[in-house]
Amino acid sequence: MNIAVVGAQWGDEGKGKLIDILSKDKDVTVRYQGGNNAGHTVVVEQKEYVFHLLPSAILHKGKVCVIGNGVVVDPKALLAEIDELAAKGIKVTSSRLKISGLCHIIMPYHRILDGLREAKRKNKIGTTGRGIGPCYADKVTRCGIRMIDLLNPRVLKAKLEDNLTEKNEIFRKVFNSQGYSLKKTYDEYLKYGQALEKYITDTAIFLNKEIDNKKSILFEGAQGTFLDIDFGTYPFVTSSNSIVGGVCSGCGVAPTKVDKIIACVKAYTTRVGEGPFPTEFSTNLKDEIRTKGNEFGATTGRPRRCGWFDSVLVRYSVILNGVDELAIMKLDVLDELEKISICTGYRYKGKLYKQFPLDFEVMANAQPVYEEVNGWSSPTTGIREFKKLPINAQKYILRLEELLKVKVKYISVGSRRDQIIVR
Ligand code: GDP
Ligand code: IMO
Ligand code: MG
Repeated sequence: MNIAVVGAQWGDEGKGKLIDILSKDKDVTVRYQGGNNAGHTVVVEQKEYVFHLLPSAILHKGKVCVIGNGVVVDPKALLAEIDELAAKGIKVTSSRLKISGLCHIIMPYHRILDGLREAKRKNKIGTTGRGIGPCYADKVTRCGIRMIDLLNPRVLKAKLEDNLTEKNEIFRKVFNSQGYSLKKTYDEYLKYGQALEKYITDTAIFLNKEIDNKKSILFEGAQGTFLDIDFGTYPFVTSSNSIVGGVCSGCGVAPTKVDKIIACVKAYTTRVGEGPFPTEFSTNLKDEIRTKGNEFGATTGRPRRCGWFDSVLVRYSVILNGVDELAIMKLDVLDELEKISICTGYRYKGKLYKQFPLDFEVMANAQPVYEEVNGWSSPTTGIREFKKLPINAQKYILRLEELLKVKVKYISVGSRRDQIIVR
């Protein structure tokens, strides 16, 4: 069975942990969008691993990991990630990692432009500064450089020449900043191509062959539904389709081949970066949950904004992603609370909204309508069966199920691999 895992909030829901668990029983795990803006954490025993480009299944020996065409790749960051893993005793070989020749490459000018554009913006997005937006923009404007181009010196040179002619003018004239040397950039990226050549292939053909041979695939989403370029809280979003629709265009696998969709959510909500967040805490709960949940970005280290669970938002995710099952992560973070609120609607200018509003002004100023439930005030981190959870924790999960109209299959009660309840 081929399963897709997507984030149903603003990212960092715990997708990495779930992928690590599910990939044990899958043959291939594939990333299909985003880039090294992602930070997916896997904790095995006492060791923590954070993956930015490598699929989170890489720790399982013998499993194949794929970086699909929809991912934007910073080759320098990818090689560093591979080296870091090697230093921890995990060797990434060409039989274990396959990269699509069609991935767009994050170039140094993308990273710098990301920062310069942010600096100039009045309403900052709070990007990760990894060059994601400018790289996807070049893909769409048809001047991008792809993985396969790094293996062809003539093509690389011609494309780079074209790009630098335009970009260097922008750097100098708009941003009053330095341009790039063709030779230096060309030499550097040619070297990355040589280092990555053994992994580069037609991953769409590879994946479809695997499917024909009855192998099972796990699709690893990055970011979350409300960071999706179309359906997120635009413009405070990332530059790819992080909803499940991104699977098909991001790895060349047809929708008929995706058998199950699992959405990952936190038992509360977090967001990194700017943009609307109706249920954000304004009280000292902000610090309490941030500390308890260790809510600091896995990529940039920025403190994450924290708030109550928003069922309006997640219900919209369930619809957009056709979710079959939910995984509720970080339930343990709520263990000490006496009362817990769940957002069931928004109010703006006297009107009640039960659905996610499309109008940015409404979203940005929406006042959450809450339902308050009793907490359980006891630890859940050692529990492995739903029926053994404190009764109020069970009630909380069942209430979310009711509001979201989807079954909760997984409940995570700690960061370690073994801290999971499967219903
Ligand atoms: P991702 O981007 O969706 O993979 O999520 P991140 O790795 O960025 O953030 C999730 C964080 O929560 C990581 O530090 C995980 O180790 C941690 N985590 C995952 N599940 C649980 C859980 O059930 N309880 C607690 N306390 N931490 C968890
Ligand atoms: P994972 O996969 C949380 C956010 C950034 C910023 C916005 C745009 O770990 O869940 P970008 O650099 O993509 O142009 O930034 O998106 N963002 C994430 N937030 N988790 C992520 O990934 C994110 N990837 C990007 O903070 O608000
Ligand atoms: Mg993350």
